[in-house]
Amino acid sequence: MLFMLDLLDVRPSELMRGWRCALLFGLLLLPGLGLHAEQDVSASDSARRGRTQFAQSCGFCHGADANGGSEGPNLMRSAIVRHDENGNRIAPVIRDGRPGKGMPPVPLSDSQIAEIVAFLHRRLEESDLRSPANPREYDLKTLVTGDAAAGKAFFYGSGECSKCHSPSGDLAGIAKKYTPTDLQAQFLYPSDVKKTANITTSSGERFAGTLFYEDAFNIAIKDEAGWYHSWPRSEVKVEIRDPLAAHLELLHKYSEADVHNLFAYLETLK
Ligand code: HEC
Ligand code: HEC
Repeated sequence: MLFMLDLLDVRPSELMRGWRCALLFGLLLLPGLGLHAEQDVSASDSARRGRTQFAQSCGFCHGADANGGSEGPNLMRSAIVRHDENGNRIAPVIRDGRPGKGMPPVPLSDSQIAEIVAFLHRRLEESDLRSPANPREYDLKTLVTGDAAAGKAFFYGSGECSKCHSPSGDLAGIAKKYTPTDLQAQFLYPSDVKKTANITTSSGERFAGTLFYEDAFNIAIKDEAGWYHSWPRSEVKVEIRDPLAAHLELLHKYSEADVHNLFAYLETLK
């Protein structure tokens, strides 16, 4: 009980950051899923497909209906969404994310992004027509219902967490290390993990380090000694490794139950 209160007693500023908003996914949005499905199903197929894609790739954080939570990033109140024209503002946020602010880049195709954009515009029209539901009214408590045993099974089974983690190794005592909200944030999308890059120059010289900067034309790394190196991309061979690739992929796979169960399991690792 105490722990549930702890979860719910989060300050807005904290919620805006990182994966904490994922918590809201489970806590606030479950009952809303499909609630208005019939009405909301838009005339346009694109917006309809966008709804499914959004629920899969963005719903964790922004809520399946993009209303966020009472304290999470509500995209219906976003100037970016409101002023978007055909994705000109939304698409860059999806592709680049907001590193450091809790939004990872979300790897989607142009057409998937276009569908999400169509969905968000549709949602905006709808939400302008009626006042958005107040997530506080949802019955929060009944939703914190993770099953630790099922979470453990997922950890060793289809979640494949045990490929990289061990409850008696790196995750030992994880529930003591983080508050519940931080733990949820960390396991969904661990923060502060940099991509690494291996660079081979045309003369065959090799460099390795953390990825410091990257665009279509240039790449820069910081090596172990702390030196920066940069090259025109066309002149070097680049291999980039994202230690969190598995976590990003998992985001698309979790069901709400998986998230609650895993969380309940991780909470037992004290
Ligand atoms: C891991 C959680 C997470 C996921 C997944 C996520 N977002 Fe976000 N998103 C955030 C956070 C946190 C912010 C606020 C960042 C900030 O403070 O600048 C944000 C900001 C945004 C904004 C800008 C809002 C504004 O007005 O500044 C848009 C648009 C957006 N997200 C759309 C999406 C879409 C579309 C998806 C799915 C393709 C998505 N997000 C997936 C967490 C997430
Ligand atoms: C392919 C490897 C891989 C898989 C699979 C994977 N993770 Fe991770 N995980 C990482 C890496 C890398 C980090 C960041 C570095 C670190 O903190 O260990 C991380 C970080 C974490 C953290 C934060 C640890 C800390 O001390 O801050 C938690 C919790 C976590 N993962 C849980 C999970 C769970 C639960 C699953 C399965 C659903 C999972 N991971 C699947 C690689 C993986």
